Amino acid sequence: MIIPKKVNIYEVGPRDGLQNEKKIIPTSVKVKLINKLTDCNFKNIEVGSFVSSKWVPQMADSNRVLEGINKIKGVSYPVLTPNLKGFQEAIKYKADTICVFVSASEKFSKKNTNCTVKKSLKRVEEIVKEAKKYKLKVRGYISCVLGCPYEGKISYKKTANIAKFIDKIGCYEISLGDTIGTGTPLESVLMVKEVTKQVNIKKIAVHFHDTYGQALANLYAVLQLGVSTIDSSVGGLGGCPYAKGATGNVATEDVLYMLNGMKVNTGVKLEMLLNASSFINKHLGRKISSRAFLALSKQV
Ligand code: HMG
Ligand code: MG
Repeated sequence: MIIPKKVNIYEVGPRDGLQNEKKIIPTSVKVKLINKLTDCNFKNIEVGSFVSSKWVPQMADSNRVLEGINKIKGVSYPVLTPNLKGFQEAIKYKADTICVFVSASEKFSKKNTNCTVKKSLKRVEEIVKEAKKYKLKVRGYISCVLGCPYEGKISYKKTANIAKFIDKIGCYEISLGDTIGTGTPLESVLMVKEVTKQVNIKKIAVHFHDTYGQALANLYAVLQLGVSTIDSSVGGLGGCPYAKGATGNVATEDVLYMLNGMKVNTGVKLEMLLNASSFINKHLGRKISSRAFLALSKQV
């Protein structure tokens, strides 16, 4: 069995984890959380989105978050941008990495970004072109790769073709999102295999939401294909405002516990991570979903 010796855990908690929270979280809390995550030794911490605040109110302070955090050399703090307007804001606030996002589902594309997949790819192309002028790295997300809340199953070929396009125009990494967490291990493997006919596996990241409790099993399955970048969210927080009923990303603590158990090197410090989870857990005032967090902090 081949499992990568080293895996990059890409932390999305401050963005994907918090974007769906109804009550506005103070900027100071977000900043403190990100600084605590920096102490964990992540290489990438996604900190916000320059999207319309009418669409995602929780992300409206992403500029102040970017200004407030302690940035450490060697760590990137990516932000999402849906269009050139968002990109310009991200530049103004000195973002070091840009994330663009498209969907493999037409209906989700419309709900999430108010445009067709074709139009969103055009927007992505414009952003990547601009980003090159600033020598900024761009990460590309594809949503609904294992199912859409409005269309159901999505063709893996469609995902693969989108991945090919965003790879060709210059995204350094492509994150395949199971936005609503309906995917199961064999489906995950087939989907990743289809995409890797078009894009080198080294450029692939996987982004599993854990709505149906399948995320760790899916991860274990695709690790065996050689996937070595995993998106996860501290505490298992999260959900997409435009995917009703979708719960959080796979919890970073659970991913780390599994990888540590398999002697896969991530560089992430578990103790510091528990400290970060505990902090945000207390702030949100409810039990978070990470099983490893609950067990390790003796809450079970
Ligand atoms: P729209 O309403 O079609 O935009 O939204 P518009 O161009 O018609 O402009 C309408 C208003 O929005 C104008 O303001 C613009 O200035 C403003 P007004 O004149 O009415 O005052 N506007 C903006 N404001 C701030 N930042 C911007 C921006 N652009 C326009 N960048 C738009 C189109 C794309 C903006 C909107 O649909 C949007 O913001 N969508 C973002 C939705 C989102 O953030 N979803 C969650 C992230 S994706 C995700 O979670 C999935 C992922 O985790 C992977 C996975 O799990 O699969 C990545
Ligand atoms: Mg997501």
